[in-house]
Amino acid sequence: MARLPDGLALFVPLTAPGDRVRVRVVERKKRFGRAEILELIEPGPDRVEAPCSVFGRCGGCRWQHLAYPAQLEAKREILREALTRIGGWTPPEEIPFTPSPSGYGYRTRARLLLSRDGVGYRREASHALCPVERCPILVPELDAELARWADGDETLERAGAPEEWEWVADDAGRVRRHRLDASAAESPPPSEFQIAADRMTISPGTFVQANRLLHAALHRAVLGAAGQGSRALELHAGAGFFSLALARQFESLEVVESSPGAVADLRVNLARAGLSHVRVSEGQVDRVLESRARGGVDMVLLDPPRAGLSESASAALIEIGAPRVVYLSCDPATLARDTARLGAGGYALQSVEGFDLFPQTAHLEALVVLTRQDRDQG
Ligand SMILES: C[S@@+](CC[C@H](N)C(=O)[O-])C[C@H]1O[C@@H](n2cnc3c(N)ncnc32)[C@H](O)[C@@H]1O
Repeated sequence: MARLPDGLALFVPLTAPGDRVRVRVVERKKRFGRAEILELIEPGPDRVEAPCSVFGRCGGCRWQHLAYPAQLEAKREILREALTRIGGWTPPEEIPFTPSPSGYGYRTRARLLLSRDGVGYRREASHALCPVERCPILVPELDAELARWADGDETLERAGAPEEWEWVADDAGRVRRHRLDASAAESPPPSEFQIAADRMTISPGTFVQANRLLHAALHRAVLGAAGQGSRALELHAGAGFFSLALARQFESLEVVESSPGAVADLRVNLARAGLSHVRVSEGQVDRVLESRARGGVDMVLLDPPRAGLSESASAALIEIGAPRVVYLSCDPATLARDTARLGAGGYALQSVEGFDLFPQTAHLEALVVLTRQDRDQG
């Protein structure tokens, strides 16, 4: 972001802090404008050469031109700013942030577009195909598969209307590809992931944490934050990435998940681990929470999609009143909004930390622990 001489905030994509650039203003609104780079006059201290040949055109990575430490610093600041400005919290100045062990070769799941014109991602701010031959953020197995397809796989020759595919590489290196609109009968077999002590099955279409290199660290942190106790409630459980270990830390556990495919995996994974004391509630969080009574739950873990929680789900959580709420989020703005609601309902921010699940992009993962304040003490 830069400022025009009249003070207007100007957003200039693909710049780095400290860059001196000549730009063209492409949009001017009342409170901000947008511009594009015409010339890089002098690079800022954190600018690096982006390794990807489609950087700038592809809608996937927008931060490859930033040195990795600067990416982490910026994400820490984005998280701190959201919690302060939207959430009304006072987070620590230096929020702990776990880096990805590698800034490239980490992504274990990718959505690709396939058409007669090639295979790739969508272009920035467009639905059009951006053909790619290699993608350096993918784990090596997926990158190699992409190179093979870009080179002219027979499936590519056959593709008529653009098709959307999801590719997953499990931790044994097997690649599973499935077309998003394919019937269950056409789907490939599930992927297998080793998550802490458990071998887990994850079917095509079921969510899996995208950065394979941080699976263990994220799992450890969430389970550590959840602690131990008698009753726990887990919302947005997916295939059970956290649920199996959580079930061993609590005497009873209820898990909520809306996707039928994920619930089917979850049941397989729980049965395989011999965990019979877990109640699986298939359905929307809002609907399940409506019928839950106040009290009796020691800890709630939630891991919603980017939209976060609805207002009514936040109100229901406040009503349940668990002493501890562990919120894992991939969107700092909705995290800040939802935790502000919980704050108004009697919760205090106990800790916050970040995980760089998505290097080379502006996305981040945040883990927040909230504790319920005794109402009598105000
Ligand atoms: C970010 S993923 C997390 C999954 C799981 N915790 C994991 O780590 O693999 C969010 C999950 O929430 C589920 N979900 C989305 N909206 C939901 C809702 N309203 N009610 C229940 N589950 C929902 C999705 O199907 C998805 O499995």
